[in-house]
Amino acid sequence: MTATQDPQNQTPEQKKLGQHQIPSYLDPNNIGPYEIFLEQVERVTPYLGKLAYWVETLKRPKRILIVDVPIHLDDGTVAHFEGYRVQHNTSRGPAKGGVRYHQDVTLSEVMALSAWMTIKNAAVNLPYGGGKGGIRIDPRKYSAGELERLTRRYTTEIGLIIGPEKDIPAPDVNTNPQTMAWMMDTYSMNVGRTATGVVTGKPVSLGGSLGRSDATGRGVFVTGAEALGKLGLPLSGARIAVQGFGNVGNAAARIFHDHGAKIVAIQDVTGTIASAAGIDPYAAADHLAKTGKITGFPGSEELKREEFWTVDCDVLIPAALEKQITEANAGQIKAKLIVEGANGPTTPQADDILRERGVTVVPDVLANAGGVTVSYFEWVQDFSSFFWTEEEINNRLDRIMSEAFLSLWDVKERHGVTLRTAAYIVACTRVLEARALRGLYP
Ligand SMILES: NC(=O)c1ccc[n+]([C@@H]2O[C@H](COP(=O)([O-])OP(=O)(O)OC[C@H]3O[C@@H](n4cnc5c(N)ncnc54)[C@H](O)[C@@H]3O)[C@@H](O)[C@H]2O)c1
Repeated sequence: MTATQDPQNQTPEQKKLGQHQIPSYLDPNNIGPYEIFLEQVERVTPYLGKLAYWVETLKRPKRILIVDVPIHLDDGTVAHFEGYRVQHNTSRGPAKGGVRYHQDVTLSEVMALSAWMTIKNAAVNLPYGGGKGGIRIDPRKYSAGELERLTRRYTTEIGLIIGPEKDIPAPDVNTNPQTMAWMMDTYSMNVGRTATGVVTGKPVSLGGSLGRSDATGRGVFVTGAEALGKLGLPLSGARIAVQGFGNVGNAAARIFHDHGAKIVAIQDVTGTIASAAGIDPYAAADHLAKTGKITGFPGSEELKREEFWTVDCDVLIPAALEKQITEANAGQIKAKLIVEGANGPTTPQADDILRERGVTVVPDVLANAGGVTVSYFEWVQDFSSFFWTEEEINNRLDRIMSEAFLSLWDVKERHGVTLRTAAYIVACTRVLEARALRGLYP
């Protein structure tokens, strides 16, 4: 039982206010990913000074919408899917965050992902709150037509609360620019005008931004390279292991490779490959596209799934799903640096083990903020109908990511904390300052 659940740990004030209770819509015996976020907030609270007065606001999402998404399947039957949109916090601006299609999506997961968006947007100082959406479906089992109907019905259902100035979805796991095009079209049809700014991560021909598809991986690279510099490790020849070879993992691997680093292992849902001599990520992506799996890539050896965590490397990039680095494997990781491309890949217990072992972690809320940063550029470009060159976008992205990294590194050094706690100190301070200044309505 965590302090969050245990009424014995509450101060009299907290008891009086009914605080630190798990909301009734979560199972106290199996809180799920949101428990990680609650624990991260607990850890940062001592550093928040007077703003800790408002900390409860972070533990409760502002708004949760659960929708039924019924569609006609190609075989003529009707199927129903669970859909979610959670707006965790909007103190600093409209909610912003992706939409995930995955068979394991739960309310707790979407709550956690939306909360991490609040922290991420504040850590990088983008003028957004945090939101996230998801549908509990394994999209690999459905046709393009079925996925289009699913996306359109889901968009209409959550249309009550999204909008260019309210909440702006984007792609996440198993959603892509085509999904965003359908969402934009559906929302536009419903409001009677073309509203490009309602989603980001759109195709470039529909008001999307140049540089968006590689932006998250690029941010992983920029913050990873800064961290290597701080640790006195050379980028050239750095050995990189990547878990997840999708949008984030693939781009991060390519950009590290382009800067002279060596990709020594790749794991995705289909398997794990390693090569001490280095894997060319471009050729590996071609192999994956051709064969449908990463294994069998010429010149690589196939590893068992759990052996991935013990690969000899300098930098480990988890870029798949949450809760991958746990108590079970954190002690075996050989990397000196972990750069979290995925959201929530490291449990708090694993974080403690890594800290004790002197492994530096660039946390998700910083490392993978490149995607939402270019989403912010896309939103700004859509509003002004004035589009920037890819060079302008990449230069602005690199500057924002580098500056965010360096300022969080300073906070880490000043307080003697991890980079994650530093990111939470800066982000929670920004969110709660906004909350305090706005005051409680009415
Ligand atoms: N796409 C973005 O711009 C963006 C931005 C910020 C954070 N993220 C986060 O990055 C992570 C990856 O997102 P993405 O957009 O690259 O998704 P994606 O769907 O493009 O790729 C996911 C990758 O993870 C792999 N994977 C899935 N299950 C796995 C497992 N059990 N073991 C090993 N690998 C597995 C898949 O094979 C695939 O290679 C997610 O946590 C997402 O929330 C994405």
